[in-house]
Amino acid sequence: MSQRTPLIAGNWKMNGLVTDSIALARAIADGAVAECDLLVCPPAILIPPVVDALTNRTIAVGAQDCHFAESGAHTGDISAAMLRDAGCSHVILGHSERRADHGESDKLVCSKTVAAHAAQLVAIVCVGETLEERDSGKTLERIDMQLDGSLPDGVTGENTVIAYEPVWAIGTGRTPTPADVAEVHGHIRERVATRFDTGIAEAVRILYGGSMKPSNAAALLKIDGVDGGLIGGASLNAEDFLAIAASCP
Ligand code: PGA
Repeated sequence: MSQRTPLIAGNWKMNGLVTDSIALARAIADGAVAECDLLVCPPAILIPPVVDALTNRTIAVGAQDCHFAESGAHTGDISAAMLRDAGCSHVILGHSERRADHGESDKLVCSKTVAAHAAQLVAIVCVGETLEERDSGKTLERIDMQLDGSLPDGVTGENTVIAYEPVWAIGTGRTPTPADVAEVHGHIRERVATRFDTGIAEAVRILYGGSMKPSNAAALLKIDGVDGGLIGGASLNAEDFLAIAASCP
């Protein structure tokens, strides 16, 4: 039995306005169970009201991106220190939507992860193959490239979470087989052990993400090496998000 506490993280993406985000955060906090760590990641502008709504609650708040620089002439960007200052403890980095929409490379994700660590934020670094890569048998090769390029030196089980999110499973209703998920999670842990050490590999949480919902959460969360979930669509509904959290083994 693993010593890693499961983490159930909601990635709200570009959804919500102030009133409904506060209501969603409160509904999640009201129904929260203690067996797993809970995290919500609202759009940046909604972080302050959500942090405020969750004062004295056990739900952590995270962001969906940060800039790699500490401060300076970067119009429209937000630094890791600003997120920390606003009450965030986590930041999602290298999500496939950012890699696609903003051309984020592994190198850029790596520099953002360094910035997150420097600001005392836990970096949730996302990796995952496209359908084409999966179909051509290149899944593990792709994951290795992303891990090697996106993870900086200094990764620990405390400062980093890895999210395995097959691009083709995000928002599509499709999920990999339990055997495929187990294979990739095991592979990621081995890669972390080889590059860092076995203690770090044992401590680091590896989340599964991509079409996780109440009906499939229990099956996905019980897979060996799965330490929680990064949830998009289903995290916008408190009941669904809490049902997923309640499925943690
Ligand atoms: P999904 O998104 O749960 O809507 O598939 C997951 C994610 O992109 O993090």
